Amino acid sequence: MQTRITKLFGIQHPIIQGGMHYVGFAELAAAVSNAGGLGIITGLTQKTPEDLAKEIAKCNDMTDKPFGVNLTFLPSFTSPPYPEYIDAIIQGGVKIVETAGRSPEKYLPQMKEAGIKIIHKCTSVRHSLKAERIGCDAVSVDGFECGGHPGEDDIPNMILLPRAAQELKVPFVASGGIGNAQQLVASLALGADGINMGTRFIATKEAPVHQNVKDAIIAATELDTALVMRPLRNTERVLKNSATEKVLEIEREKGANTQIEDIMELVGGVYPKVMTEGDMEAGVWSCGMVAGLIDDNPTCQELIDRIMGEAEDIIKGRLETLLAS
Ligand SMILES: Cc1cc2nc3c(=O)[nH]c(=O)nc-3n(C[C@H](O)[C@H](O)[C@H](O)COP(=O)(O)O)c2cc1C
Repeated sequence: MQTRITKLFGIQHPIIQGGMHYVGFAELAAAVSNAGGLGIITGLTQKTPEDLAKEIAKCNDMTDKPFGVNLTFLPSFTSPPYPEYIDAIIQGGVKIVETAGRSPEKYLPQMKEAGIKIIHKCTSVRHSLKAERIGCDAVSVDGFECGGHPGEDDIPNMILLPRAAQELKVPFVASGGIGNAQQLVASLALGADGINMGTRFIATKEAPVHQNVKDAIIAATELDTALVMRPLRNTERVLKNSATEKVLEIEREKGANTQIEDIMELVGGVYPKVMTEGDMEAGVWSCGMVAGLIDDNPTCQELIDRIMGEAEDIIKGRLETLLAS
């Protein structure tokens, strides 16, 4: 299957693995890229630009296919040294960067001069149009279903994707809530040029996270996520657990006066404990509604082959037959 996204990034299948904190290490990125998708290392999970350089070198050893690095621009006062992280990306020969969070505008010249292609993750049509206007090569359109930060508009992909298709000229992938072939075909029908998956890729053999995390995703239904940090306008979709309940209780109590300090120990710095140590109650962690569709732990190759094979069957089989009858 060839789309504007496979052509832009020089990949075999229109499937991207979105950056994920403490999940997107070289092992996962290389496995996705070796399976013909686009694997992405999460830049800020690496504590320093030197650490990122080492992770990129490791990934270069594990695959000769294209892979990318995610750079998340956080709304924080003490900004990470982004130009140095970008230097590590350039020196490592990486040609694709997935940006997310705040606008990447300030950093585009440095990356563009090095021949890097930028895909910016957006949760609205207006942000997607801004990304296009400032020179991003592609957009990842993240619907309300997504694990992580869905923004504050609450527009699900059934509406958001065709709206993006109406307005955007650059290629875009559908992101959020996606885990199978039916959803790939639907995304293409809604105007997208491919898909980006987060949660689905956590429950794969190569994802270097504790087995408890994979088991929790497999056990979860589509009813088992919740939105936290709404009062802070930094909404995050997370798996329900005792920490989620505590955060929601504090938010209910304090309402619009909730401060980040009130919930800090439940939301900040918890990823190593959850993802590496498998302490599932250590804090809140991002997880999408698509958990309800995930019931196995395949290799990335098996997952991507299954999605592409079944997508072809749906297009040539069910859809074709509907036209014929
Ligand atoms: C555990 C987890 C951690 C994530 N961390 C990041 C991150 O650090 N930066 C980022 O841009 N997106 C992050 N995301 C969002 C994903 O890249 C992707 O956009 C999202 O998971 C898509 O929705 P889905 O989970 O329904 O597939 C994370 C998602 C999950 C599930």
